[in-house]
Amino acid sequence: MVLNHLKKQFIPLLLIFTVLFIGACSTRSTDDPEVSLTDDGFKSVELINMTIEWRVTQDTKLEVVATAPTSGWIGIGFSPTGARMSGANIIMGYIDDSGNLQIEDRYGSSSTNHSKDSQDDLTNTSGSETSGSTTIKFTIPLNSGDSNDRPLTEGAAFTIMAAYGDSGEDNYTAQHNSSKRIRQSIGAL
Ligand code: HEM
Repeated sequence: MVLNHLKKQFIPLLLIFTVLFIGACSTRSTDDPEVSLTDDGFKSVELINMTIEWRVTQDTKLEVVATAPTSGWIGIGFSPTGARMSGANIIMGYIDDSGNLQIEDRYGSSSTNHSKDSQDDLTNTSGSETSGSTTIKFTIPLNSGDSNDRPLTEGAAFTIMAAYGDSGEDNYTAQHNSSKRIRQSIGAL
C-alpha cells in the first residue's frame, strides 16, 4: 500500500526530471554565442562589446562589418591554427587623423604577433569613426589560396578572433588588453 503510494508519486516526478534533462541537453551549448540574422542577410554576433557581422556573397566571398567602441584599431581573425593568434587570417584597420581608412590583410605570425600578408585579398573596404566608435567593412575570398589564410566554408563551424586597441592607437602594433580580445568558436559561418 505504502509502496504503491510512493510509486505513484515517484513516477510523475521521474517523468518531469526526464523531460527537463532532455530539454537542458538539447539547448545550445553555452560555448556558442547568440548569432542573429539582420534584415540584410548578415549573421551578427556581439563579442567583447564588438559587433561582428558577416555574410557569404557570390558563394565565394565573405563580406564583413565590424564595429568596436574605440577610435583606435580593430582586428578580426579567422581560424587560428596554433596557440593564441598563430596562423589566423587577420584583418586590421583604423581611421587615421585625416579620416581615411587604413586597413591591412595580415596573419598571425606567432602566438603573440602578426605580420602583413604577402598577398592582399581585401576588396570593398570602407570605414568610419564616430564618437569613439569605429566601423570597418571589407570583403575577403572564402578561399584566397594564400598560404597564410585558412579556407572558410559556408555553413561550417569556424573560430573567430576579435580584438581592438585603445582609443587613439591608430597603428598595427599597440597590444590590446586582455578584456579587448577574444577567440571564439561559432556554430556556422
Ligand atoms: C596590435 C598588435 C597585437 C599585439 C602586440 C598582440 C599581442 C598579444 C599577446 C601578447 C597576447 C597574449 C596575451 C593575452 O592573451 O592577452 C595576445 C593574445 C591574443 N590576441 Fe593579440 N595582439 C595584437 C593584435 C591582435 C589582433 C589584431 C587580434 C585579432 C584579430 C588579436 C587577438 C588575440 C587573441 C584572441 C588573443 C588570445 C588568444 C587565446 O589565448 O586564445 N590580437 N595578443
